[in-house]
Amino acid sequence: MDLIIRRAALPRSVAQQRGLVDIGIESGRIVAVEPKLAATAREEIDAGGALVTPPFVDAHFHMDATLSYGLPRVNASGTLLEGIALWGELKPRLTQEALVERALQYCDWAVARGLLAIRTHVDVCDERLLAVEALLEVKRRVAPYMDLQLVAFPQDGVLRSAGAFDNLKRAIAMGVDVVGGIPHFERTMADGAESVRLLCEFAAQKGLRVDMHCDESDDPMSRHIETLAAQTHRLGMHGRVTGSHLTSMHSMDNYYVSKLLPLMRESGVAAIANPLINITLQGRSDTYPKRRGMTRVPEMLAAGINVAFGHDCVMDPWYSLGSGDMLEVAHMGLHVAQMTGIDAMHACFDAVTVNAARILGLERYGIEPGCDANLVLLDARDAVEAIRLRAARLAVVSRGKVVSRAPAARASLSLEGRPTEVDFKLHRE
Ligand code: FE2
Repeated sequence: MDLIIRRAALPRSVAQQRGLVDIGIESGRIVAVEPKLAATAREEIDAGGALVTPPFVDAHFHMDATLSYGLPRVNASGTLLEGIALWGELKPRLTQEALVERALQYCDWAVARGLLAIRTHVDVCDERLLAVEALLEVKRRVAPYMDLQLVAFPQDGVLRSAGAFDNLKRAIAMGVDVVGGIPHFERTMADGAESVRLLCEFAAQKGLRVDMHCDESDDPMSRHIETLAAQTHRLGMHGRVTGSHLTSMHSMDNYYVSKLLPLMRESGVAAIANPLINITLQGRSDTYPKRRGMTRVPEMLAAGINVAFGHDCVMDPWYSLGSGDMLEVAHMGLHVAQMTGIDAMHACFDAVTVNAARILGLERYGIEPGCDANLVLLDARDAVEAIRLRAARLAVVSRGKVVSRAPAARASLSLEGRPTEVDFKLHRE
């Protein structure tokens, strides 16, 4: 074989068996997962009982804006409105070279974080479709080691912004994978609903997936998710449509939500929460008590709706922080949703791995024979410890090759009568 990872612990959601396993890899695929694999390989890695997971998947990102922090100035107030204004200032100054360069740099960070699949929205409200061309180029360049999926995103509204629908169609013809939208940003609720119908019909006709920025608002009456679910059902697009953000659900009436969740379940609409961004941008006009503004994650999971967590932004006009670390995203999601029960904590790990992979429709994702050999060895014994420590990615394997290594997080101590090193893990005999 090309590579064997020995003595690996697997996340609950992918473990076919309890206990440690060896993972055999040949020609970019996993060919064996069993205890004490009787085979040899050109390279072997001893996981020593640490967690080996399928790669992190970011189901919601904006790669056309990433790493533009400070261009042409920083977001001084840190608000959504100044972020939108800033993006408006930056857009005319974008060049294809700079976009490609920043996106590639972000992908380097992502790989080092074990993040090997990203769905990124790309703004199509620009006649030149400069960002579309740039991200299609990036998709080609990173294809040997990363799955990049593009969403045609009419940031200024597909009906509100002149020419946006034509631009979106051109972007799809150029090779963009998914149809996006932003119904809550259209001029009226009726226009929002109309935009959902228009975009879903277009996607159905082209056989494409849909992922809309939907109800990213504190307005409890922003109910475009209902229309999105109904159109999905009408057009038979079950399992191919996603509502991103859905923050208005946080503020909705409980009785209404008790009707909405079964409708989402029935139509197979998935949800993506973006905990880092939702917790910073929503509830901004509240005094106190202040709403959290993240969508109802545990309730949706309990209703059988697939939910992923996305990063959304890293060092761009809307968010000055971040480094491509999906464990940081899971950590924030866990806190904001109060998902501190043991099963709930594991579910937060799933939200940045298997659940997100389902939304992207990644085939051959997982740890079993026949899957792509995309794996991450974490400096943690299980998913909860991985989230708690935002554990180091000791090794990242893409298409069967080790593409990144990082040291474990250790500190040496110089204290009389105390250990000489700490690793922040509980050690009990
Ligand atoms: Fe977004």
